[in-house]
Amino acid sequence: MARYLMPFRLAELEQVRTDVLVVGTGIAGLYTALKAKPHGAVLVLTKRSLEDSNTGVAQGGIAAAIGREDSPQLHFEDTLEAGAGLCDPAAVQVLVDEGPECVMELVELGTRFDREGGGFALTREGAHSERRILHAHGDATGEEIRRALAERTAAEGIAVLEGQFLVDVLTDADGRCVGALARDQRGVLRAFLAGATVLATGGAGQLYRNSTNPEVTTGDGIAAAFRAGAQVTDLEFVQFHPTALCRPGTPKFLISEAVRGEGAVLLNARGERFMPDRHPRAELAPRDVVARAILDEMSREGTACVYLDTRVLGEAGAARFPHIYAYCRGLGIDPVREPIPVAPAAHYLMGGIRTDIDGRTNLPGLYACGEAAATGIHGANRLASNSLLEGLVFGRRIARYLSGRRPVAPTASSLAYVLPVRGAGASGTEEELQELMWREVGLIREGEGLHRALVRLREIAEGLEGPLADPADLVRANLSTMASLVAAAALERTESRGGHFRADHPSRDDERWLRHLVQRHTPGNFV
Ligand code: SIN
Repeated sequence: MARYLMPFRLAELEQVRTDVLVVGTGIAGLYTALKAKPHGAVLVLTKRSLEDSNTGVAQGGIAAAIGREDSPQLHFEDTLEAGAGLCDPAAVQVLVDEGPECVMELVELGTRFDREGGGFALTREGAHSERRILHAHGDATGEEIRRALAERTAAEGIAVLEGQFLVDVLTDADGRCVGALARDQRGVLRAFLAGATVLATGGAGQLYRNSTNPEVTTGDGIAAAFRAGAQVTDLEFVQFHPTALCRPGTPKFLISEAVRGEGAVLLNARGERFMPDRHPRAELAPRDVVARAILDEMSREGTACVYLDTRVLGEAGAARFPHIYAYCRGLGIDPVREPIPVAPAAHYLMGGIRTDIDGRTNLPGLYACGEAAATGIHGANRLASNSLLEGLVFGRRIARYLSGRRPVAPTASSLAYVLPVRGAGASGTEEELQELMWREVGLIREGEGLHRALVRLREIAEGLEGPLADPADLVRANLSTMASLVAAAALERTESRGGHFRADHPSRDDERWLRHLVQRHTPGNFV
């Protein structure tokens, strides 16, 4: 694998200097930028616009132990239980202890969460033992948080450059991260030199044919960090959301778990509930359990979906979930009167760039937070609505860590890179890769299918090794790297745990596998 996707000579590029460079404008990126602002010059890059991130489409909400019956300890226990043995307890402790304060800061920054009876309205989601999910405008929580953070970022005068595709993370000869290369929409490549580079670039939902994630989630930050020599971990653990709207020809729109939290139930094609027989928590069992049960019903009944029966919520459902009901009604489905057809879709990547509890990676100068990072809080399966919280808590910790050190952008170096010349951009469409991942590296995996996937992914990767100029090729190169990392880890882990299920190794094997898989590329090829 090439170290950089494009050839360059630093001396020939426009160079932009800053103390802290943040890449990504979801909750993690913007919050880190706001928190880092008092300590130095901050510059934010985003691939498309401030409107495009996974944060903006988050529905259910943000988990925090603020209810009267709740406590950080209960939140800690639920998170560990969902993570199936692979959470880092120290990281989870940080999350649950610092989470409530971060949520209050979000409120001070202008986020308007829904309220009831003088306090915040709290809902329940799968595998939570308490009502602890704050939400906004019913089911538009992410958009409300995004709006508030974007407005505050503008008010604070933080520069955000839109339309900047992260091509690669720049490292010097000692392996220290010195910034990033980004390509704008006119194809101009620039070097952004920074004392601290924070990747908050999100996950890789676009690896799969069926995904609840927006188009921008192509794993660019994780793939770039990997090329630079950063450790990535836990990539075999992909969370599939059980209930995405299933209508041929329409995108896999998320039907929030909170809908089940408020009482909706799942029915098979014969109109029968099936979850009570599968798990004591029925529809609110951990996501992997519900998603696989749905898949099982679909295959037994030979159907393309099951049904989420929202009729029990009556008209109150429309008031509580205005966005979801309006979307369904726009497609001719009225959830007050009829069940919603649903099926699982890829939703969240538990793994990512390996960090410590201050967001530091193994490369000096490189930090990661949000879905791009593996901080240790999700283990093998993320507890619902912990991810927005993670973005806040660990983004703030990065800013705090940097505050004591005042990172200063490095001086210009003679860094240059010449790509080995190979045939470029020739193989494998994005759709083929997504189809392959869905079929062989999806909810249910087995050794032979994973082998087949890796063979084809290697061919696709070889066709993407040359100098890449077309933006679609850059994206395909990142997807192909991410796909190979996920498939290789899934093949290696010969057990089933959390979001990773192997039909040929269906049991959890703590004796051999109570450990993380860490992948690392050793870069070379400098001139
Ligand atoms: C949902 O609303 O079901 C998604 C929440 C999450 O993935 O955390």
